[in-house]
Amino acid sequence: MFLKSVKPGIIKKTSIRSRLTLFYSLAAFTLLTLITLFLYWETINILYKADYQFLSDEVETLQYILQNKHPNLTALKQEVIDYPTKPGDSIYRHYIRVFDENNKMLIETPGMSSILPVTNPDVHANKRLLKRNYRWYSNRDNKYLLIQSPVRLGNNAYGYLQIALDISYQHAVFSDRKFLIVALLASALCSLLLGFFIAHRGMRSLYVLTDTVKKITVTSLHQRIDPRSLPKELAALGNAFNQMLDRIESSFVRLKQFSSDLAHELRIPVNNLIGETEITLSRGHTVDEYQQVLISNLEELHRISQLIENILFLSRAENPQLEIQKTLLNLHDEIGVVCDYYQAMADEKNISVSCEGQAELRVNSIMFRRMISNILSNALKYTPSGGWIRFAITTYQNIVQITLRDNGIGIASEHLPKIFDRFYRVDSARSQHSGGIGLGLSIVKSIVDLHQGKISITSEVDKGTTICLTFHK
Ligand SMILES: Nc1ncnc2c1ncn2[C@@H]1O[C@H](COP(=O)(O)OP(=O)(O)O)[C@@H](O)[C@H]1O
Ligand SMILES: [Mg+2]
Repeated sequence: MFLKSVKPGIIKKTSIRSRLTLFYSLAAFTLLTLITLFLYWETINILYKADYQFLSDEVETLQYILQNKHPNLTALKQEVIDYPTKPGDSIYRHYIRVFDENNKMLIETPGMSSILPVTNPDVHANKRLLKRNYRWYSNRDNKYLLIQSPVRLGNNAYGYLQIALDISYQHAVFSDRKFLIVALLASALCSLLLGFFIAHRGMRSLYVLTDTVKKITVTSLHQRIDPRSLPKELAALGNAFNQMLDRIESSFVRLKQFSSDLAHELRIPVNNLIGETEITLSRGHTVDEYQQVLISNLEELHRISQLIENILFLSRAENPQLEIQKTLLNLHDEIGVVCDYYQAMADEKNISVSCEGQAELRVNSIMFRRMISNILSNALKYTPSGGWIRFAITTYQNIVQITLRDNGIGIASEHLPKIFDRFYRVDSARSQHSGGIGLGLSIVKSIVDLHQGKISITSEVDKGTTICLTFHK
């Protein structure tokens, strides 16, 4: 039987390990991709910033040279012709072109015309703006970052600068994203493997728990899981499982005890029957003697029949689906009927039986009488001659309480916790002698349970016993 049915579904069917692996790898992969992309863009940014900075520095240098009334031509030549395409300086290979205020080209890096044809920049417009502008420029083979900037000349007029920085190398590095994709794919694979490994390790305690549980059988019900060996999340499960095992074990022990007690109870009367019948058959007897044997056998058979009836009652009462019919009864009258039945026995032992109080309660009449009869017969059995037995019925709000007190032999406190157990007797030999089989109080308890009531017992040896039955109206 499943306590809670789990709807079948694709996600529910996949193992926790696979789900953890998947979620972990997805999270790790997303994180890795984001970090990689961020670093990629950041590197591009830094390199391009350096390119812009280089161009801007270059403009400043040229401005410094050109603004002189008598420009240092050697320095200008070095700056424009010697340095820019110096072999080995490939990252910052650049080309410079300078125009005067009349748009006439003053000087340019050799080979610049082939990559950027001489255009006629609108010097005056740019002069007004006094603003540098950058743009990307590419020809068939290479890519350039081009700066165009007005430049103040020695005669206070404005000329114009064009510097083209070859950025083909950086561009090639960044546009080759194959490596990036391969690295990301490899990291996806790694996170998948790592995810599987982590999930497997994380679930290991669960596998250990499952193995331990699998090994527990009826013969090893005493085995327990050590919650200290489990992680915190599973320790609670381990504890709950141990508690369940405690309950199963105690039920199992009780069941075993019950069947052995039952066998024991049946063995005595059946052995008596066999013994007496064998003796009777072994020699001839008079009709009177046969009659005596039959009467004695009938007594044993009644005992067996009563035992069977009690067991049947208890097993029926345990059925949670059992519905009992209740009627509104006057409890004083009902107790009175039971007391009348036992009056002869009470008189014989010179015990006074009384009942005080009034209340009405919805109960099952037959069960109620049986319950009262069981506790009254006990009180009569265990109260010496000349004693008293008192019923008291009290009501408080919607609670009805029936108390039975006697001044009998009482019960030692160590027996009280087990007193409602089946077949439990304080003194087997004594009870056996008085005909008890230890089912009386278990039946009382199951009747109280069926009425959603409560039962409690207090007792003192040689002083007496009090049984308290509490019901809701
Ligand atoms: N009123 C009582 N005074 C003293 N002992 C009692 C009383 N009621 C029950 N007991 C003790 O509780 C035990 C269990 O009672 P019960 O279940 O009715 O079985 P039994 O068949 O022995 O009467 C009895 O054996 C007896 O020792
Ligand atoms: Mg009894």
